[in-house]
Parts: sequence; structure tokens; C-alpha cells
Amino acid sequence: MILLLLGSGGREHAFAWKLSQSPLLTKLYIAPGNSGTAQCGENVALNPLDFEAIQKFVAEHKVDLVLPGNEDPLVAGIADALGNAGIAVAGPDTYASALEGSKDFAKAFMHRHNIPTAAYKSFSLQTLAEGKQFLSELKPPYVLKADGLAAGKGVIITPDLAEAQTVLDDMLAGGRFGAAGSMVVVEEFLHGIEISCFVVSDGEHWQMLGSAKDYKRIGEGDTGPNTGGMGAISPVPFADEEFMQKVQDRIVLPTLKGLREEGHPFRGFLFVGLMNCGGDPRVIEYNVRMGDPETEAIFPRLNTDMVQLVHAIAHGNLDKVAFSLNPQTAATVFLVSAGYPGEIQKGYPVHLPAPAEGSVYFHAGMAEKDGSIVTNGGRVLAITSLGPDIITAVANSLTTAERVTFEGKTYRRDIGQDLM
Ligand code: AMP
Ligand code: GLY
Repeated sequence: MILLLLGSGGREHAFAWKLSQSPLLTKLYIAPGNSGTAQCGENVALNPLDFEAIQKFVAEHKVDLVLPGNEDPLVAGIADALGNAGIAVAGPDTYASALEGSKDFAKAFMHRHNIPTAAYKSFSLQTLAEGKQFLSELKPPYVLKADGLAAGKGVIITPDLAEAQTVLDDMLAGGRFGAAGSMVVVEEFLHGIEISCFVVSDGEHWQMLGSAKDYKRIGEGDTGPNTGGMGAISPVPFADEEFMQKVQDRIVLPTLKGLREEGHPFRGFLFVGLMNCGGDPRVIEYNVRMGDPETEAIFPRLNTDMVQLVHAIAHGNLDKVAFSLNPQTAATVFLVSAGYPGEIQKGYPVHLPAPAEGSVYFHAGMAEKDGSIVTNGGRVLAITSLGPDIITAVANSLTTAERVTFEGKTYRRDIGQDLM
């Protein structure tokens, strides 16, 4: 099979790494890719949002299947656009992708299908005054979410009513977050521990892909601003059989059934962000693709042929795919650039010695320049190690993290500590 993978992060290197292990793969293209994906296939200079150029590339290079790694092309409608041209895409259609592309759509969907989530109300510029009044009736902290895609920055949580009202004003009247903020979801604050659960579906059949915990804050002890993710642990100890059964019965099945009933069966990877509220899972958000860095933690545990898996998503035979997860624990530690998630400098040489036994590298913000590898983004390199328990897996990743060097290298040494 000839595949075209879209994206350029650590998640896409993990996909490329897994795909390239399959005997079914004849050729892998990655657009635009990074220095890591270049070791697994051929990087091509295509914009994942330029569907016409992708369609042309697919025809010229006899690509059998397109696999979008991140949400932007999915929400922009790549599965419909290419699907209408007869091209197989392992990803949900535009309608189903709105579960991630519009928080208001996702909340209304959950409401329609009785899926547990935080109570909410949506507001637009026309109902701004009503929104401020609604906030004044809620208990703090206040949760405000820009409706559209905002690169993970569209959620504001504050204990202060006046600030919450100002934020609502800024989004609806002041253009903060642009079009993404022209509608705002105000919702109940959920107390608990967050966890990410992953599902793969071909529209009819489905499989759980396990759980992971993401460490979002830049600083140790979960301090400082949010990032794209500083590390991950998979599986999550508290997500035991009983909890995962609740996730399956109360959330995954009604979600997949709901989409089928609405005429848009989900074909792709579904990421359910949950709060464990005293043993009961409630949905915080849906994403219609794998997580980053969760993918880097989960895929090294996955004993499934990835080419067969993505082919099955697009062609409806997921029930024929042998599936198992290694029971070992995976710990991913992300090395990031100094200043991240604020302003950063790029172009520093990366020294990448062989990883410790049992560790693997996934390149993220890294590029090849004049034959050597340099930093090329905020999140630079994910290091994943497997071990019999969290302590061992994390220790292995941290040992490898010490050996890698680049100017300004920053990472959290407390990944997984809250779960030990
Ligand atoms: P989202 O983009 O919807 O995942 O929100 C970003 C982050 O905000 C989440 O990962 C949570 O940490 C937090 N968050 C979102 N919604 C809520 C909520 N209703 N209650 C508590 N925390 C939330
Ligand atoms: N790790 C969070 C995300 O991929 O959105």
C-alpha cells in the first residue's frame, strides 16, 4: 500500500514509525513531515489544507490512502473533499469532525444523546448581555470556551466573575480568537482528574485504544501556562476495568451510535477528553484525531499492524484486525525549547545519542539542515520508554532526556509522579 500521512509533529513521527514497521507498506509519503518522519518515508512539501494539491499528488503517485494526523484538514473537510473524488481517507467526515471543530456542536450532540458532560449554555454577540447575566448566576470557577479551533488556547478558566465577564466581552465583541470566538460556550466547572481515552472506528466496528494522561502545564507540579503537552503516561492506573467499562457504555457507544443515527458514522481515531468525577466519567472535549503526546505513549504499546488498521478505518473491516496492547507502562517525556509556550528561538543543533535500552525518540519540532538536525519548534523531541511500572518507565525516559543536548533544553522531571 502507498500512504500519504499529513502533519509534522511527534504524533506524525509515531504514526510514520508504526506504519513503516508493516510488511504491507510499499511507500510512505509525509506532508510536510519532519526530520523523524524522513527516516520512515519520504517527506513532501505539500500543504495539508490544500486539498486540490493533495488530490493531484495522490493521482500522480498512486496513493492508496490518505491519513490526516491533526485536526485542521479534518475540520476543513478533507474526508468529504477527497472522498468525493474517490480517494480513501482514514478520518471522519466534515459533520463528525465538528465534534472537535465546534464546542457548541459537541455540547448539543452530547445533550441529544444523553452523554455525561458539564452543563452549559452558548452565547453569541446578540446574546452577550444574557451571557454576562448567566455567568453571575453560576458558582466560580467560570469556564469559557471559544466555539471554534483555537490551537488549544481557546479555553479560559477563572475564579473571578468580573474577569469572566470581560473575557466573554473580549471574545464576542472584541474579536479575541477571531471567528473561533464568535460563539462562546460557558460551562460548569468539573472537579476531578483528567484522562484521555482513545477509540478507533470504521463507522460500524470499533476498538478501544487505551488510556493516557497528558501533562499540559509547562512547569513541574502542574504550574505555569498550558502547552501542547509536556509528557504522557499510558495506561492510567485509575482507569481500571470498571472505569473503562463506564467510559465505553456511557460515552463511547452512545457517541458512535449517535453519529450513525445522524447519518455520519465515525471513521477514524476518536479522542475523548474526560474528567473522572469521583469514579464517573464526564466528557470535557472530543478530538477527532489522536492526541499529541498521547500517541507517542500509546503506539509503542500497540501490537497491531498500523497499515492494516488505517486501511480498515477507511474500508470498514476493523473487525478483521487483530488488536492488542502491551500491558507495560509507557512514559513519554517531551524536551522543549527555552521560552516555550511563549516566544522561542529555533535552529539550535540537536545532539541525539542512541537512546537508552527500551527508549524510542519521536521527533517533533526538529528539522534537517545542511546534513545535521536542528530545533525547529517549541516542542522538540518526545522520548518514550516502556517499563513494568511508571517509576521504571519514567526513569528510563529521564535518563535518555539527560543525554540529549540542545541549547535551552527544558523538560519536566515529574511526569507520572502524581500517578505513582
Ligand atoms: P478543552 O480544550 O476543552 O480540552 O479544555 C482545555 C482544558 O481546560 C482541559 O484540558 C481542562 O483541563 C480544562 N477544562 C475544560 N473544560 C473544563 C470544565 N468544564 N471543568 C474543568 N476544567 C475544564
Ligand atoms: N494532548 C492533547 C491534544 O492532543 O489535543
